[in-house]
Amino acid sequence: MKLALRRWRQDDAKIIVAACTDTITQRYLPLLPSPYTHADALAFIERGATERAVVDADSDEVLGAIGWRPGRDNTAEIGYWVVPAARGRRVASTAVELLSAELFQTDFQRLYLQTALTNVASQRVAIAAGFTREGIARGASRWRDGTRYDTVVWARLADDPPGPSPRALPDLPDGRLTDGVVVVRPMVAEDGLVTYNLRVLPEVSGRSVVGTPADPAVIARQCAESASKWLAGQRAEMTIWRADDDAYLGEIAVYYAEPVLREAMIGYSLMPEARGHGYAARAARLVTDWGFESGMARMIAGTAVDNIASQRVLEAAGYEREALQHARLPGPDGTRLDNVMFAKVRPAAA
Ligand SMILES: CC(C)(COP(=O)(O)OP(=O)(O)OC[C@H]1O[C@@H](n2cnc3c(N)ncnc32)[C@H](O)[C@@H]1OP(=O)(O)O)[C@@H](O)C(=O)NCCC(=O)NCCS
Repeated sequence: MKLALRRWRQDDAKIIVAACTDTITQRYLPLLPSPYTHADALAFIERGATERAVVDADSDEVLGAIGWRPGRDNTAEIGYWVVPAARGRRVASTAVELLSAELFQTDFQRLYLQTALTNVASQRVAIAAGFTREGIARGASRWRDGTRYDTVVWARLADDPPGPSPRALPDLPDGRLTDGVVVVRPMVAEDGLVTYNLRVLPEVSGRSVVGTPADPAVIARQCAESASKWLAGQRAEMTIWRADDDAYLGEIAVYYAEPVLREAMIGYSLMPEARGHGYAARAARLVTDWGFESGMARMIAGTAVDNIASQRVLEAAGYEREALQHARLPGPDGTRLDNVMFAKVRPAAA
């Protein structure tokens, strides 16, 4: 489908109202009036100069909206929405590319977007349109209830290459990994409760270096923001399920702490009833192979000296014991614990 950008017209008001009353549009564009009325649509059309309708170039059907807000020094912030029925068809990413090309032909030299950490679709739009993730602007926006939230800032400069921008952690092939016994899937917002039930177990929180907030709302938010870390190339957090009955087994993550060295670390935890069946080793093998296919050269994992079960998992997944690191891990009451470091090196291509 070929898209075009054109000025808004009075007779577009009805579709603007329909799109702007949609729940997801209302959530992620908290500055839109609520409820959104016909009069709001007419006022939006009136403002016109830096707003465009995204239309099917053949039929002129309105599929979305895109606009820009000029800032200082030849910069502009871009914003967009797509009508619910047209989502997932590359409307937004194509529109951002079209508008960027147009603006770069004028005086603009830096274009940027801001997305909520939970707005996966919009972060993918930014990547598809060649924007680079620059960082987190803390408390930069406000939800409708007045609470502030962090945004991800994405920018494209006039001489940046076209999209998509590169990603250090690609998506899983077909959205999952499986060996027929376990299935590993990216962590999503809906995993909040199972993840909470796992992470609050004392033997799980006790082995966590970062600590576990004993608050279901915080863990639910961490799950909802997990995709953002994956898209940033920082860590790929996944849940583990049994293939035959889809029972929740636990979680596993790949932390890409040393991309320059092409070295990533894995970490995992299982629910008590899922232990002792070899599921962790299966999941570790799956994500390790995925890491190698994704360009990593070395996968590592650390365990406390007394964590024999975890050391067995790593050996079963083909890792070798490499070193005993003194006082590497923070222990209880300000103490430090030794760490047994395991590693698996990407097999040489046959
Ligand atoms: C964000 C929004 C504009 C995306 O529009 P869209 O036309 O569906 O986006 P595209 O089809 O161009 O998709 C671009 C990428 O996002 C992915 N994507 C789209 N919807 C998704 C979803 N709900 N969940 C996960 N990924 C999604 C696509 O698969 C594609 O990924 P790829 O490039 O890796 O293949 C649309 O969801 C929307 O209108 N949301 C409400 C308003 C909003 O959030 N505006 C942006 C505020 S910053």
